[in-house]
Amino acid sequence: MNIKVSIRNNKKENYSDLDSARNLNENNNIIECKDLNLWYDDNHALKNINLKIKKNKVTAIIGPSGCGKSTLIRSFNRMNDVIENCKINGEIRFHGKNIYASNNNVMQYRKRIGMIFQKPNPFPMSVFDNVAYGPRIHKVNDTNKLEEIVETSLKRAVLWDEVCNRLKDSAMGLSGGQQQRLCIARALAVEPEVILMDEPTSSLDPISSGKIEDLINQLKKKYTVIIVTHNMQQAARISDYTCFMYIGELIEFGETKQIFERPKKRLTENYITGRFG
Ligand SMILES: Nc1ncnc2c1ncn2[C@@H]1O[C@H](COP(=O)(O)OP(=O)(O)OP(=O)(O)O)[C@@H](O)[C@H]1O
Ligand SMILES: [Mg+2]
Repeated sequence: MNIKVSIRNNKKENYSDLDSARNLNENNNIIECKDLNLWYDDNHALKNINLKIKKNKVTAIIGPSGCGKSTLIRSFNRMNDVIENCKINGEIRFHGKNIYASNNNVMQYRKRIGMIFQKPNPFPMSVFDNVAYGPRIHKVNDTNKLEEIVETSLKRAVLWDEVCNRLKDSAMGLSGGQQQRLCIARALAVEPEVILMDEPTSSLDPISSGKIEDLINQLKKKYTVIIVTHNMQQAARISDYTCFMYIGELIEFGETKQIFERPKKRLTENYITGRFG
């Protein structure tokens, strides 16, 4: 596979001190994009994005199909690296450090910045093993410890009561909404700091969507959530900040209330009032 990741700032950085960098950012920005550009071959999919994501808040990313929402959130944990002919320049700083400055710690970033996809994607194994999967990869093998992590993660994902008697059953037997919460529990089990969600409720019925929205509200006490959604009501309901994108550009970013009630740009207003998209 041809992976091209061009790195503007080649300065080698020592990532072992990331822990000590936690909480040092006085502006409480956990992720910052600086002049971020991304191309798929000649398709300039992200154009000079500058964006600051606040810690322990929910940020919604909205915009019409193909504007680069998924590309942007995938770049936050370097998931675009595996896409052939994807070229990136600029910086994405996590706790102030450019995650593209070194190729050494990609696994560490993916542990700290988890991802939930549009379609629930449980692994074809038991409910327990799905949640224990990440911790086992990160060398947690003690049975008691694993049981504790699985229970805590399922409780945080508000799924425990529904599956506590089915832990050994296949995850594939859960409903779609339960599978999505299982995927969230699986992401939480490795103690991430940021959870990226790409249209996490678009394949769910309104009741399951409501449960995920309630859950997102709970999660922000402990985690930073970045959610892509096509549902304007959902963005308005659950997010603190909203980022509106259009054809690869970040058009407007601000507090959700301001974006929805007093957008500064005509394009934003047209989009949120349904005049295009
Ligand atoms: N793996 C890929 N290879 C090549 N081009 C891609 C790839 N993924 C996305 N693109 C292109 O990059 C642009 C942005 O796509 P992206 O999937 O980020 O949009 P999106 O805003 O998430 O759209 P949607 O709302 O439909 O999910 C589009 O032109 C798309 O065709
Ligand atoms: Mg998308």
